[in-house]
Amino acid sequence: MNEGLFRLPRPARAQIAPGAVHVPGWLPLDRQRELVAACREWARGPVPIRHTTLPNGGVMSVQTVCVGWHWQPYRYTRTASDVNGLAVAPFPDWLGELGRSAVAAAYGDVAAAEGYRPDTALINFYDGAARMGLHQDKDERSGAPVVSLSIGDSCVFRFGNSEHRGRPYTDVELVSGDLFVFGGPARFAYHGVPKVLPGTGDPATGLNGGRLNITLRETGLAQPPPRL
Ligand code: SIN
Ligand code: MN
Repeated sequence: MNEGLFRLPRPARAQIAPGAVHVPGWLPLDRQRELVAACREWARGPVPIRHTTLPNGGVMSVQTVCVGWHWQPYRYTRTASDVNGLAVAPFPDWLGELGRSAVAAAYGDVAAAEGYRPDTALINFYDGAARMGLHQDKDERSGAPVVSLSIGDSCVFRFGNSEHRGRPYTDVELVSGDLFVFGGPARFAYHGVPKVLPGTGDPATGLNGGRLNITLRETGLAQPPPRL
């Protein structure tokens, strides 16, 4: 879907800023399909996917469901007190493994990846009109990298600096299967999604339209007790 006539081949790995690495086409199609199926299941509950309402009354255009910890603006909670009061689905071991492989692939450093222990995933679904304004991921009490996986329609992903929302920033096209990791000096950089490119996804992923983004993070919070 990304082979336009005049499109240049995409590099195997690109450093967008120190600590921020884009790995095009990292997820094979079968892995994308598995993730779509898992996200579909999580979207059903126990805390269903929904548009998050912000403290200022605004409503996010993306739809979000969480795994491991529930994110609500601007904190992580054990239960979704802003939705239905239930705990979100547990964070599965296989997703942590995927996160470690992602960090290893991005930084080319298996040892650095071994200690990565993500305990939450924020799953955002973008329809063709959804966007995400520039923000920092700073509700975590950990400086561990954020791992971002994209499936479905491509988007323009804006990756900026750690000081403010203005320039310098770099616009990167994230295509289905792409990995983006930001850690180290880029961990608290402003980033956002100004535009989704509708119709660019491949229905073979299991998504007939829209864009799915999964970010894995370490919250740095004490683990919730296991559920009986
Ligand atoms: C996010 O910033 O949490 C999501 C980014 C994306 O959708 O690529
Ligand atoms: Mn973010």
